This record gives sequence, C-alpha cells and structure tokens, in this order.
Amino acid sequence: MKVVAFNGSPRKDGNTFILINHVFRELEKEGIETELMQLSGREIRGCIACYKCFENKDQRCAVKNDVANECIEKMIQAEGMILGSPVYFADVTAEMKALIDRAGFVSMANGGMYKNKVGAIVVALRRSGAIHTLDTMSHFFPAGQMIIIGRGIGFGRDKGEVEKDEEGMQAVKALGQRMAWLLKKLYA
Ligand SMILES: Cc1cc2nc3c(=O)[nH]c(=O)nc-3n(C[C@H](O)[C@H](O)[C@H](O)COP(=O)(O)O)c2cc1C
Repeated sequence: MKVVAFNGSPRKDGNTFILINHVFRELEKEGIETELMQLSGREIRGCIACYKCFENKDQRCAVKNDVANECIEKMIQAEGMILGSPVYFADVTAEMKALIDRAGFVSMANGGMYKNKVGAIVVALRRSGAIHTLDTMSHFFPAGQMIIIGRGIGFGRDKGEVEKDEEGMQAVKALGQRMAWLLKKLYA
C-alpha cells in the first residue's frame, strides 16, 4: 500500500513539507509506504485545453515536456494521495493549481482514473486564506471519484515555524492516523 504526496510549495522542505512528513510518519507506523514529490524546482504548467487527452484516452497528458505525467503515473500507482500547498493570496500556489488542472482533466478524460483512492489535504499559512485554499484542492478528489478522508492546517511563516503550532501538528498527526485506518479497511 502506498501514499504519494505532492508539495505545491516553491520553497523546498518548508512548512508544507513538514506537515506532509507528519502525516507520513503515522502512515509509516502502520506499514504504509510513502513517497513525496516536491514541485519546487520542477517545471509544471497549466492545462492548454488541447483536449487530446479525451481523444487519446491513454491516461496521460498530451503535453509531455514537464513533470505532469510523472505526477499522474505516481497517482495511478498509489492507493492514497495527499495534496499539500502553502496559502498564496488566499489560494493554492500556481504549481499546485497546474497539477490539479492537468492530472484532474486527464482523469476525467479517462473515466475517473483515481477511483476509490483515499485523498487528504494539507495547508500551511501565515494568517488567512486556509479555507479557500482547502476548497480549491478539495475539488480535485470528487472529479477523480476519490474519497476525501480529511485535512490538516498548520500556521507559520518562516521555514519550520509550523512546528510551533501544536494544534496544527496534532491535526496532521490525526489525519495520518485516519488515513492509515481507512486505507487498511479498503486495501489490506
Ligand atoms: C507569494 C506569497 C503569498 C502568500 N500569501 C499568503 C496568504 O494569502 N495568506 C497567508 O496566511 N500566508 C500567505 N503567505 C505565507 C505562506 O503561506 C507561509 O509562509 C507558509 O508557511 C509557506 O509554506 P512553505 O514553507 O511550505 O512554502 C504567502 C507567501 C508568499 C511567498
């Protein structure tokens, strides 16, 4: 059993990374394999609306010169998925939005490629915009016929600051535990 997480932050190993790792820790305790894909430094652009994925129906994006298909491949192979983003102007980062549009549209073109996989969301932020950011990411999962297990939010601005948010750290720990519980019910 495997969970793959996508960190939409352009800041590698920052607060979103820390939150994801705390979810991972709980999953790993239950013997679930984890893999992290940080979009920082990787190229990913938005959907160009060519609709070739609807013609090809090959579970891949027709635009092959960035990291989108690598992400899609990892999503297909995992039983669980975490989308993580810092809040940028009360929403997800441009990198995360590009991933949602690309991987989500390919899934729709192929009749729901991520059906019955378990999805979770994490958000890091300094002060405001968490709910809107969660909402943006939450639209990805129903489009792929997935099950959303929950979300975790952590507050902090500078790298590592999120660890001082005790409630936030508890929330991601609980999220990992619930995700492991459901994955084991569905896939063990
Ligand atoms: C361009 C930009 C926009 C941001 N917008 C917001 C915002 O709207 N609300 C907020 O609370 N924090 C905002 N922040 C702060 C980040 O969400 C915060 O520093 C977060 O912990 C970064 O996570 P990371 O280390 O994973 O990148 C912004 C930061 C940047 C660089």
